[in-house]
Parts: sequence; structure tokens; C-alpha cells
Amino acid sequence: MTDDAISNLANETRHFDPPADFAAHANATASAYDEAKADRLGYWAKEAERISWATPFTEVLDWSNPPFAKWFIGGKLNASYNCVDRHVEAGNGDKVAFHWVGEPADDTRDITFGEMKDQVSQAANALIDLGVKTGDRIAIYMPMIPEAVVAMLACARLGAPHTVVFGGFSADALSSRIIDCDARIVITSDGGYRRGAPAALKPAVDEALLKCPDVRNVLVVRRTGQDVEWNDDKDVWWHDIVDKASTDHTPEAFDAEHPLYVMYTSGTTGKPKGILHTTGGYLVGATSTHYNVFDVKPETDVYWCSADIGWVTGHSYIVYGPMANGVTQVMYEGTPDTPHKGRWWEIIQDKKVTQFYTAPTAIRTFMKWGDEIPAKFDLSSLRLLGSVGESINPEAYMWYRKAIGGDRCPIVDTWWQTETGQIMISPLPGVTSGKPGSAMTALPGISADVLDDAGDPVPNGSGGYLVLTEPWPAMLRTLWGDDERFKETYWSRFPGKYFAGDGAKKDNDGDIWLMGRVDDVMNVSGHRLSTIEIESALVSHPKVAEAAVVGATDDMTGQAPVAFVILRESAGDGGADVIKELRDHVAKEIGAIAKPKKVLIVAELPKTRSGKIMRRLLRDVAENREVGDATTLADSTVMDLISTGMSTAKDED
Ligand code: PRX
Repeated sequence: MTDDAISNLANETRHFDPPADFAAHANATASAYDEAKADRLGYWAKEAERISWATPFTEVLDWSNPPFAKWFIGGKLNASYNCVDRHVEAGNGDKVAFHWVGEPADDTRDITFGEMKDQVSQAANALIDLGVKTGDRIAIYMPMIPEAVVAMLACARLGAPHTVVFGGFSADALSSRIIDCDARIVITSDGGYRRGAPAALKPAVDEALLKCPDVRNVLVVRRTGQDVEWNDDKDVWWHDIVDKASTDHTPEAFDAEHPLYVMYTSGTTGKPKGILHTTGGYLVGATSTHYNVFDVKPETDVYWCSADIGWVTGHSYIVYGPMANGVTQVMYEGTPDTPHKGRWWEIIQDKKVTQFYTAPTAIRTFMKWGDEIPAKFDLSSLRLLGSVGESINPEAYMWYRKAIGGDRCPIVDTWWQTETGQIMISPLPGVTSGKPGSAMTALPGISADVLDDAGDPVPNGSGGYLVLTEPWPAMLRTLWGDDERFKETYWSRFPGKYFAGDGAKKDNDGDIWLMGRVDDVMNVSGHRLSTIEIESALVSHPKVAEAAVVGATDDMTGQAPVAFVILRESAGDGGADVIKELRDHVAKEIGAIAKPKKVLIVAELPKTRSGKIMRRLLRDVAENREVGDATTLADSTVMDLISTGMSTAKDED
């Protein structure tokens, strides 16, 4: 969205007050903002009571060595115990934890908290048999099946940090993550169902392992029954060891700062960053925000977050937050259009889903498919809708509200990041109003601001850089093995404050509107990709001499990668075959999500005299705008050539 569009919208008075009946029963309270303002740490100490501590903490926060925070000092807990055992102990063992829906019709399973406890214990015992010790890292590369959650919680139970790699990522992306955190065990499956057919996963693990000789074992769930290559020295079937293991396992309580997981995310350089989350603060942050922002009533609600567990949203708002809150969830394996375009709405109808959390890119896709599809289903069970991943454009907000929410459900537009671990900026349903396109205000206990270049807060009606001015419980603790990069990336632009990498604007009421990344990170379908990572992938192809990638605005995916490539002389002049080869190469190196939408073969790239590529100009070209100020280019004629080339390029979809 352009700056003008934002300010026009921000000046609009359109907003939705919480419906009175919702407000009367809301979990969140208006007074929480004041309480947290008066005593921020006291607020978090109180929220920490939502989870069970084996040993109570003695101090809420140690911020004596910023930016390295310690939360809930002296406290000991087990995240897996909090997600399963304590619900069983409270007499809720027979309650459904997951209504799991496989993609093939009728392939469903209901799993209770009691069954989850048994399976997590079995998996933990099996991992012990495979030699796993507290502190060892375990990589998980799985489809959306219950065993993925079981695997994560089994790792947490043993204090063995997991690193879940999205199943859509390539073998190379997987191996680089395994190597970076030195994981010795990989948990995967033969594959999963996508778009009506089995998709394989194990071959990518086999390929990744060629570069990871230190991986001892691969634990493989049989999901689809496809043939898999088998390495007797390393590969172990899940059903051979997990299903046969004892269901008795006593979880050990770990220090609140014990590492819980590492999640890799794109940064401004080619190398993904390993975001480290620890146990106590993270679990408090995820559980508290899940309870308040989604207004969950664990006794009656059926909550559904459509994210994949390979992203942070799946970690905080499928696994840790909702499970610690003991709420019944839906988990769906496949794509929204299989076997028909109403599949999600059919699931909401069948399972009587009460809260639904998804991404704007999905909402825009449904909008394109038409209102008549959701209209065929009974969506009256829904009470609340959530959005995450990018700003929800007002048109999509209004459609979501009407076509899905029946004009009755509040929408929570939740801003947060892999790094923040928990939702930071969002309306509180029943308490705050919603404005289409604005994430509104920082949650109680969270301090956000928008700063100008000099680091001063901007007045209402102005834009700048989004920062978080105080530490929060689920904040990342560092980048795995790279404290310096952690300090440099987040804490150096505005000393003492966390710089999120996003631009934002305060409207006349002081509410926050997110404006997108201000760095070389693009947001494709709510997922972060680094331009430099895609450029490195392109340059690793033998036909490519140089490449520049920009994120161009896209109606469906928010942004889409567009690549400008200079070929080596030996590669010829770059016909359709070469372009296809390059796009496929990026998909192979990183994953299909990173595949450039367009590849334009150019003779030169616009560079400043110091040799820096001016991506801003390329973005103008990719978005069909008049090219901006090019006076600092070493050769100003370059842009004329590129612009002409672009006008003849067609979509490469
Ligand atoms: O640019 C912001 C955007 O997504 C980035 C974080 O991406 P990731 O770590 O992959 O986590 C995505 C899910 C939490 C942010 O820096 N973003 C996320 N949510 C919103 C958003 N932008 C605007 N509005 C949001 N609600």
C-alpha cells in the first residue's frame, strides 16, 4: 500500500466496536492496559500463572546485560508437561486435543489430550533409545500430521531443542539448517498429501544428508505408503520404535531459560538466522496472548489456525499456546482447494470451529474464488477471526468480516514476528475496536513505538520505523551461535531498542498501521524471503553471471520475487528454456515459494558508482512505475534498456 493510501485510510473513521455480547464475556479486560502500564513486570508475573511451574520463579526479568534478557529467573518447568500432562491430571484426558483432518476425504482422526500424552511419552522414550540427551538438537521436516506435534513436544519433553524446517523447503535449505544447529537426528515422514496426491519428503532428507554426515538417525513416519529409499544404518521407522515404546515418561523440569527451539528465518544476508527461543518466557508469551487475543474458552471452543507448523505461527499458535491453554483444535493436512474450493469452510462447518486464524494471502485467494463458495456452508459457529503475516488490505478485511464472519465476528489483525515469538500488536477482542488495515495498538505489557531517522518518536499522523522499546517474555534470546549478529541486526539501529525491520505509521488516533519491510526482506504469502538469498541461489547457477532480485507488489501474494539476471556469455541469449531453468533452480535451492514470478534477462544492472545495486529502481520497473531518480547511477542509460526489456517480458507462471 502506498503512503498516501495509508494516510487516506488512516483518516477514515471506519472502525468496528466490539459487539456488546462479545464484550460481556471477553477474556481480555480494558483495565489490563492500565495495570500493565503501571506495573509491566507485575502484569507478566500474573500472566505466568497461566502455566504450571515445577519450581516458582523468584524474579520476573533480568535485563542487566541488554540485549540478552532472562525471564522468570529461578523458575523451572517442562513445556511438554504444560501442553499435555497437566490437562490429563486435571481430568481432561478424554478431551479432544486435535480434530485432525487429512487431505483425502474421510481421512480424519480425533486425538485426545490423554492420547497425546501417551504418544509424546512414547516418542520421548524412543528418542532416548536413539541416544538423545538434553540439549541435543533435533531437526523436524514433516507434513501437517499429528506426529509433527508429537515430535515437537517429545523434543521439548527431553529439553532437546527442535528446529522445524517447513516441508516446502528444499534439501539444500534443510541441510544448511541441520548444519547450522548441528542436529544429529532428523524426524520426517515418507510424505504427505497435497492437491490430491502423495508428495514425498524423505528423498529431500536423503539428499540433505549427503551434506550432513553427523546425522545419526532419521526417524520416519509412514503417512502415505510411498516407496522410500532405505538406509539400514540410519533410518528407523516411527512405528517400529515409537509405537512400541513405553507410555511412561516423567518429564524433567528445566530452567526457564533452557533452549526450547531454533527457528530459521530469512534475514538481509543470504544466510538464514537461527532464532533462539527459550522455555519459560516463550511459553508464557504464547499462552497469554493466545488466551487474550483469541478469547479462547477451553471448555467449549474449537480453534483452528491454518498455518503450517514449519513456521513460527504454527509453533506459537498451534503447538505451544493453544495446547498449554488446553483448547480443542482443528489441524488440516492439505491445500484449501482439495478436493474442492470450499474445503476449509466445510471443515469449519463440520467441526464447529469458533476461532479461525489465517493469512491475508489466503483471504485474497478466497475472495477471487467468489462469495458463493463460503455461502454454501454454515459458518455460524465462528466467533472470532484472526489475520497474520502481512497487513490485511481493507478490501480483504471487509470480505473476511462479511463473507466468513457474518458481520458479527471481531477480526484480530495480529502483528508479530518469528523473533517476537508472541503477538505484539493487535486489537483485544471485546475491548478494542478494529480498523480495517490497522493492527491497532501494542498489547498490555508490550511497548511499541514508531521512530524517525534520528530515533525520536513520530507524532500521530506520521510514519517511521517500528521498534519495541521494552523486553517481552517470548523475545528471541539470540541468534543461534551468533550473539554479535543478534546485537547488530536488531539492537544497533536504535540503541537499546529492538528494531523490527518494518515501517509503520501512527494514525491520528495513535493506532499503528504496518507498512511493510524497510530492509531487503520481502514478504511472499506472509512468509519472509531475503532478496539476497534468492540472488545467491541464482548466481549459483552456472549460466548466471549476476542477479538482482526485488519484491514486487502482487495482488495475491502481497509481494512476489522478480529477478533481473545477467547471463554468462557461454549461456547464449536466454530464451524461455533458460528462464524456466533458472526459476526451477531457485525452487530447488530454496523452495517453491522463492521461485521468481518473472525473470528478466538484462545486459546490465543499475549500480551506483560504488557498485551497489539500486534495487529501488528495479522495483519501479517490476511494478510498472515510472523509474525514480536515477542520477546516482554510474551509467544512467542502463535503466532505459531494462525498462524496455520489462515491457516485453511476460509473466512466467
Ligand atoms: O513484516 C512483518 C510481517 O511479517 C514479518 C514477520 O515475518 P515472520 O517472522 O515470518 O512471521 C510471520 C508470522 C508472525 C513482520 O516483520 N507481518 C506479520 N504480521 C503482520 C505483518 N505485517 C503487517 N501486519 C501484520 N499483522
